[in-house]
Amino acid sequence: MKVVRTVAEARAALADLTRPLGLVPTMGAFHEGHLSLMRTARERCATVAVSLFVNPTQFRDEEDLERYPRDEARDLEAAEEADVDLLFAPAAETMYGPHAATTVSVGGPLTERHEAAERPGYLDGVATVVTKLCSITTPDLAFFGRKDAQQLAVIRRLCDDLDLPVEIVAIDTLREPDGLAMSSRNAALSEAQRTKAADLFRALQAGRSVAAVGRKAVIDEVTAKLVLGFPPYLHEAPLDGPAGPLFSIDYVDVVDPDTFEQIELPVADSLIIVAARLGETRLIDNLPVGEPTEHDDAEAATDETARTTEREG
Ligand code: PAF
Repeated sequence: MKVVRTVAEARAALADLTRPLGLVPTMGAFHEGHLSLMRTARERCATVAVSLFVNPTQFRDEEDLERYPRDEARDLEAAEEADVDLLFAPAAETMYGPHAATTVSVGGPLTERHEAAERPGYLDGVATVVTKLCSITTPDLAFFGRKDAQQLAVIRRLCDDLDLPVEIVAIDTLREPDGLAMSSRNAALSEAQRTKAADLFRALQAGRSVAAVGRKAVIDEVTAKLVLGFPPYLHEAPLDGPAGPLFSIDYVDVVDPDTFEQIELPVADSLIIVAARLGETRLIDNLPVGEPTEHDDAEAATDETARTTEREG
C-alpha cells in the first residue's frame, strides 16, 4: 500500500493504476464498518484508494474536532490488511490553502432539517470535502455507509447536480451484536452508556412496527422507547439504585431517503431517522420502514427460543 500526503503525489500515484478505481473516503479511527466499505470496494474495483482526513470544516467547533478519535498507525495497518492500494492522508493545510474561499452547498429541503439544523455547516463541510476528494482522486466509484443517511443523500445530490462522473455505492450499516450501529464515536461511551446505546436501534425497530399508522405514531413510539427504555424499566429499579444514562433526543422523524422530506404515510423505503445524545456522545441511526435486518432475525430467534423454553418449562 502506498501512502501519499499531497495532492500532486495522489494524482501521480493514481495516474498509473488500473481502473475501475474505487474511493473510500474516511476520517480514520477504522472499525468494521470502514473495513466493510473497503472490502466491497476491493470486490468491485481493480484499484482501491482510501482517504484518511479528519475534515475540520464539518465539525461544530474546535473542541468537537479535537475529541474525534485518531490512530493513524493502527489505521494504516488495517488498510494494508484490507488490501488497499493507496492511502491519501493529507494535512489540513494541504486540503485548505490560506486563501480557500469556496464551499459546495446543497440547497433545498434536503439541507433544511435534521443534521443540517443540529449541526450548522456540517453538510456543507462534507459536500465540499467530498467534491475535493473526487476532484483529486477521480474515482469511478465511491463508497459510503448508510448510517449517515442525510450525508449520503447530500453526496448523491451533489454528484448528480455537478455531473461528477462517479457512481455512489451505499453500504448497509454494520451493527454490533446488540444492534448498535458501528461508529468511531462509540469508543467514547462509558460502559453504562454503551449498554443504553443499544436502545437506539431497538427504538427504531419499535417505531417500524407502527409505521402503517403514520409518521406521528412512529415518532411517538421511538420517543417513548428512548425516554422510558425497555423492560426492566428504570422506574422499576430500586429507588436508591443508580439512575443510569438517559438519552437527550435531537430528533426523531420519518423521511424520504433522497430528499429528506417528511413522510406522513410511510412507504417501504421511507427512513425512520434518529439522533440522540448520551452524555457528550452524539449517536445517529436509521432504519428503512420496509426492510427487516439480520438483527431482526437474531431477535426473532431469541424470542422464539424464549417462547420454546417457556412452553417446555
Ligand atoms: O462519513 C465520514 O467519515 C465523513 O463525513 C466523510 C464522508 C469522509 C467526509 O469527511
